[in-house]
Amino acid sequence: MHYALIGGTGVEKLVLTDKSAIRVDTPYGPVNMETGRLGNVDMVFLRRHGQNHTVPPHAINYRGNIWALKEIGVKKILATGAVGSIVSEFKTGDLVLVDQFLDFTKNRPLTFYEGGEHGVLHVDVSEPYCPALRQEILVGAEKLGLKIHHGGVYVCTEGPRFETPAEIRMFRMLGGQVVGMTGVPEVVLARELGLCYASIALITNQAAGISEEPLTHAEVIATMNILGETIAKLVEITCRNQASNQKCACATANKEAGLF
Ligand code: HPA
Repeated sequence: MHYALIGGTGVEKLVLTDKSAIRVDTPYGPVNMETGRLGNVDMVFLRRHGQNHTVPPHAINYRGNIWALKEIGVKKILATGAVGSIVSEFKTGDLVLVDQFLDFTKNRPLTFYEGGEHGVLHVDVSEPYCPALRQEILVGAEKLGLKIHHGGVYVCTEGPRFETPAEIRMFRMLGGQVVGMTGVPEVVLARELGLCYASIALITNQAAGISEEPLTHAEVIATMNILGETIAKLVEITCRNQASNQKCACATANKEAGLF
């Protein structure tokens, strides 16, 4: 399977046809996912928070998930993630094709290259999200007449709590535009294994202190349920139109592993 969708909050209800459940054993534990078809495209679907949304952001097996996708032959990963908006240009219900991140996670395994027998790798993340895959998503969105913001700085927090208004003010000063809890290290791990990875951030709420109301998970879910179908269409058209030739350097990102 060439393509995988890592579905975050709200995209978990996506249904593949001709689906089968598979389990892949990895050095980081077993990973469950589904293979099947989304419209006309064969793909793998991995629910980031588990089958019944039981795994919180800080406890997700990011390494296992990315390892498992690589193991079964996936080359390109489209990911979705619910986010809060930090800036006034991004409204609830908007989609953002993020292009940079700020990492505020605290306690997650960050790398496959732990030294020793695993080697050391200082992977290049000058362009953390695959530019070729991002372009394909933009083309897909255009075909669907769907508005998507081109680029955005994703702030990843450790969670599982939402942020304080003071934190959100700080993130805004640093150039952050959306805030979520799951984008890092997923994007980095994909690059470490040479996989193309792009992420569509779905704005489910205004970040803390911007909205008058306290943040609730129910608000996030309600917006996501509206966006779920749109995302399915965007993922399908993107994968259907995908150019087969590789126009990015993602696949060779780990060529310096062990050379340091
Ligand atoms: N903060 C962090 N993660 C989120 C948010 C938020 O406001 N909304 C959806 N995921």
